Amino acid sequence: MQNLLTISAYTPDFYQHVLDLSAYLDKQRKLKPLDGASILFCFEKPSLRTKLATEVAVNQLGGSVIHITPEEFLGGKILHAPQDAEVPGLPEEREALQDTVKNVSQWCDGIFARVYKHETLQKLAQWSDIPVISGLCNDHHPMQAIADLYTIHESFRSDKPLTITFVGDANNVAFSLIEIGLLFGHKMQFAGPMPCYWNRDQLAHFAALGSRYGGSFTHGSDPLPLVRQSDVVYTDSFVSMGQEHQYAEKLRHFAGYQVNEALFSKAPSHARFMHCLPAHRGLEVTDAVMDHSNSLVYQQAKNRMVTAKGVFAVLCNAEYRTEAPVQA
Ligand code: CP
Ligand code: NVA
Repeated sequence: MQNLLTISAYTPDFYQHVLDLSAYLDKQRKLKPLDGASILFCFEKPSLRTKLATEVAVNQLGGSVIHITPEEFLGGKILHAPQDAEVPGLPEEREALQDTVKNVSQWCDGIFARVYKHETLQKLAQWSDIPVISGLCNDHHPMQAIADLYTIHESFRSDKPLTITFVGDANNVAFSLIEIGLLFGHKMQFAGPMPCYWNRDQLAHFAALGSRYGGSFTHGSDPLPLVRQSDVVYTDSFVSMGQEHQYAEKLRHFAGYQVNEALFSKAPSHARFMHCLPAHRGLEVTDAVMDHSNSLVYQQAKNRMVTAKGVFAVLCNAEYRTEAPVQA
């Protein structure tokens, strides 16, 4: 069973196949690799792009989407009567997740889930007989990274390694972006404040990916020297979904990390700006940079739909798999 939970689970050959197939399927609208397929969507966190772009992609590939609430899919709690509070052995959940997933596997052809904990996706994958695809968790956002790589290659149309700098929080989007960039031999850079930085294991992971696939990873707390030599400057919200209780504290740490005209103008004039969105104009990025002629933000959003086609065709239809080795 092929799932997509993290970028580094697969080889560059796999992603190259996904990118090529995405472009092909987006042009060949008559091809329906998901004809008759049903994909279950379950979202624990809000979403605009991931939910809509992927649903449009599945529809255009001939499949259909079924939405289920986290309460129904990921273990609804049983509300016991007050008089039963002391009764030993009462079940807490309506059904074990294992059984729910095995049931869904009898009817559906894929599970697309946005969750808080990465372990929730791992549990789904452990019991599922159909592919489980991440629509983001606290630690990873693989579908975003694939769309971003597609956008970068579409925009630069060059085989040369590019210098891609993420400024901001060491979060899910940055993690998956750095992973996929390193897999494709790009020069990945990160600038962020120390309290919101990568831990030692994550830094070792990036170094190992770089040595394995030929990319490099440079990082520090000062964005300026890194932005100066960037082909792409990328940022994301300083406060991710689920961290809203840390707003004041995180905003204090991120003073000086806004991607504004002053910072972006230090990058070469050809440099592109990227953001996965949703953006908080005036916080991590200014209007001038979001709306800059070198901003790729809406092209990225469009490509969430284009690349969802490649991912779902490859994972949910065996005829679209590649012959190349795919597991890292
Ligand atoms: N970029 C992204 O994943 O956006 P949503 O949270 O709106 O899905
Ligand atoms: N880092 C952000 C990404 C949103 C697409 C979050 O997790 O909220």
